[in-house]
Amino acid sequence: MIDLAPDRDMLDPIETASRDEIEALQQKRLSWTLTHAYENSTFFKKRFDEQGVHPSDFKSLADIARFPFTVKKDLRDSYPFGMFATARENITRLHGSSGTTGKPTVVGYTANDISNWADLVARSIRAAGGRKGDMIHNAYGYGLFTGGLGAHYGAERLGCTVVPISGGMTERQVTLIDDFRPDVIMVTPSYMLSILDEFNRRGLNPRECSLKVGIFGAEPWTNAMRAEIEEAFDMHAVDIYGLSEIMGPGVAQECVETKDGLHVWEDHFYPEIIDPVTEEVLPDGDMGELVFTTLTKEGLPMVRYRTRDLTRILPGTARSMRRIEKITGRSDDMIILRGVNVFPTQIEEQILKCDGLAAHFQIELVRSGRMDAMIVHAEATASQSSSEARAASARELAHHIKSTIGISTSIEVHEPEKVARSEGKAKRVVDNRPKE
Ligand code: DLL
Repeated sequence: MIDLAPDRDMLDPIETASRDEIEALQQKRLSWTLTHAYENSTFFKKRFDEQGVHPSDFKSLADIARFPFTVKKDLRDSYPFGMFATARENITRLHGSSGTTGKPTVVGYTANDISNWADLVARSIRAAGGRKGDMIHNAYGYGLFTGGLGAHYGAERLGCTVVPISGGMTERQVTLIDDFRPDVIMVTPSYMLSILDEFNRRGLNPRECSLKVGIFGAEPWTNAMRAEIEEAFDMHAVDIYGLSEIMGPGVAQECVETKDGLHVWEDHFYPEIIDPVTEEVLPDGDMGELVFTTLTKEGLPMVRYRTRDLTRILPGTARSMRRIEKITGRSDDMIILRGVNVFPTQIEEQILKCDGLAAHFQIELVRSGRMDAMIVHAEATASQSSSEARAASARELAHHIKSTIGISTSIEVHEPEKVARSEGKAKRVVDNRPKE
């Protein structure tokens, strides 16, 4: 793979600023956000008043812990625009996240918010190894989901040629990659695997395609999956993180030169890690739930938003801004099976250890007698699809899961192409347990 590390003089000055400078900026911007939220959003005013705090109580960064948390339910309860801190007329764009139930949660951006977002995605693409003049194949979904348009505006801001293909129609994705020869692809990692299948189906060698970098996010994925994709396409695979409530893609980004976790763009977002049960703030390095306060958002400022994403904060490496470790999973994706906590990413790691298995998988939860049970639906690779080979892979996977995670699972290894494919965020868990 070619070296794509950006020269230091390409970076925004704040990316290499001292910690003192970064913290001074955060202090100033946090103070602005708290005041803006309090004065312009009836939701935040009420919350702060109930908690007995006022923006003037914020005197140093640690004082943020005195302010109340915000959760997804708050957005649902204020549906659609109740939390906004500006008149609807000042909102340039709306996005939403589909969620699992009913109505989406709605987020709104002023023109300045959209511009900052484009800057941060441009910065993210550059950190990933993209450059002005590159062609970007953008297979994140366009629409209310922030992935498509978020990536699009950032790619344009960096000065790239964007192919706004969106998700789906996998055959056409491969045709355009083959014909247009893009340098960069932006897509969910699970959909990249569907694109890989299509390359193989057509007899095209993915290692010979033009792609140099894939910028993958919107769902958890492992370093084992990184190795799988990098080997298959002979390209760099880097992680992009974000969530609509805070902005969208580009809240944190992994650098191509280190691939050691994601630098939080701390000039626009203030991260904390809390214990999800006691809500106590944990020191850097401890594992817990990621919480963000926005520092520049006008339309929908967010104060201490509980993401439910589990990770820890690490010091900066390629940039001075702190990193978050690759997200293990969300607290609400965690499966508790007979007392053991399991994340789909742990199953992914074990599947990728088995040579006879493809990277596609789905976890089914069922009730067996009075006990919950897990069935892992895996898929044989084309060269290992005989029933004997599939049975051997099933035994191997069951053994890996038992010896590393400590749970007994039933494994069904399906024939190639039989496990449901993703065109965006993969649905990893299907819960077929009877509803109580
Ligand atoms: O998924 C924004 C996005 C689009 C990020 C494209 C990256 C690329 P939501 O639909 O609001 O926004 O979902 C946010 O997705 O809280 C995480 O649980 C998960 N997520 C996003 N990026 C990552 C990642 C977009 N890199 C939720 N690793 C977040 C793990 C991720 N999980």
